[in-house]
Amino acid sequence: MTAPTRAVRDLVLDLPSDGLPAYVYDLTALREHAAGVRAALPERVELYYAAKANPEPELLSALSPYVDGYEVSSGGELAHVGRAVPGRPLAFGGPGKTPAEIAAALDLGVERFHVESLHELRVLADLAADRAPDTPVGVLLRFNLPLSAASLEGSSLAMGGRPTPFGLDPADADTAVALLTDGTLPQLRLLGVHAHLASGLEAEEQIGVAESVVTWATRLAARHRVRLAEVNVGGGMHVDYTTPERRYDWSTYGKGLARLLDDHPDLTLRIEPGRALTAYCGWYATEVLDVKRSHGEDFAVVRGGTHHLRTPAAKGHDQPCSVLPVHSWPHPWPRPVAGSDTVTLTGQLCTPKDLLARHVPARGLRAGDRVAFGLAGAYAWNISHHDFLMHPRPGFHFLG
Ligand SMILES: Cc1ncc(COP(=O)(O)O)c(C=O)c1O
Repeated sequence: MTAPTRAVRDLVLDLPSDGLPAYVYDLTALREHAAGVRAALPERVELYYAAKANPEPELLSALSPYVDGYEVSSGGELAHVGRAVPGRPLAFGGPGKTPAEIAAALDLGVERFHVESLHELRVLADLAADRAPDTPVGVLLRFNLPLSAASLEGSSLAMGGRPTPFGLDPADADTAVALLTDGTLPQLRLLGVHAHLASGLEAEEQIGVAESVVTWATRLAARHRVRLAEVNVGGGMHVDYTTPERRYDWSTYGKGLARLLDDHPDLTLRIEPGRALTAYCGWYATEVLDVKRSHGEDFAVVRGGTHHLRTPAAKGHDQPCSVLPVHSWPHPWPRPVAGSDTVTLTGQLCTPKDLLARHVPARGLRAGDRVAFGLAGAYAWNISHHDFLMHPRPGFHFLG
């Protein structure tokens, strides 16, 4: 779905020029999508939302009825999500947690810590002894587990399966489990294993990854004769920016996870997608300021740019977009118009890297027309370098 929903389209065409650019979120579309994802998953799969994808409070609240909790990856996210959806379960992940962040998470009563190293495990135990002496703190050990060559190659970002700073090395697994189970760190309670290994995988590949993580975790628990209650297999469900109407196959994924759970009747599986939950509900809408021809190619310069919507620059893709024609032209001089079959849409920044979408089939695009970039609901505004060049910030609208 690149084309904006009717509500989004109407708003974008109604906004005054100086009300653009604007992020417009369709919360009804988000709720429908999240309900579909939840329905495709077996009951024993918990769905957490990775808040890093988009932490707008309106989105966090809209997702609340469909998710079992939220994954947060910093003290900032922890405080923010705790305020936006108070009382909902939180899992605290991320490498390089500071003692102050861990203490804040303990004070907030965070249910689960995704521990990324032996050192972090000891820091957590030390702080827990002071701040939560009577309630053992739940721990999932995050591991950087092997990933098949095909999955590594098919992924857009790999956090595991190769040397990275994420999670514990499998070589430390026995030491970590022993520390948690031999009475050394009684403040902590081992709940299970966490492995977010790659982003951008399709459902069949993700099922394979989940199976291998669960098999590995089951063997680890059996070696130490401890119960494996939970395995979190992370997020990373593919969002196809080249074919935006094609969605991740949640139905196939849900069935694969159901088969896996059949073989492990005491296990709770958890997933923590970000991008594939919220990408589709957001649009970055703007106006064409100018159209020009340069060395035989047409360019349309729009209000705003990659300082607001960094996704295409970060991922090296063309952001899918729709043109919303505006028929009036207030000036007495001719309206700039694209004469060739394709137009490259750029922003206002003084860098050739400010590319939003290249070679878009938009013959006839004119200055004053509006453009809505789709799939802008995840890793868009919140990963952008807003202050570069000091252009005004976009507006924000939440519909539904
Ligand atoms: C630990 C962890 N969990 C979940 C996610 C969410 O991934 P995605 O937005 O690709 O689903 C990320 C993303 O980097 C992550 O690092």
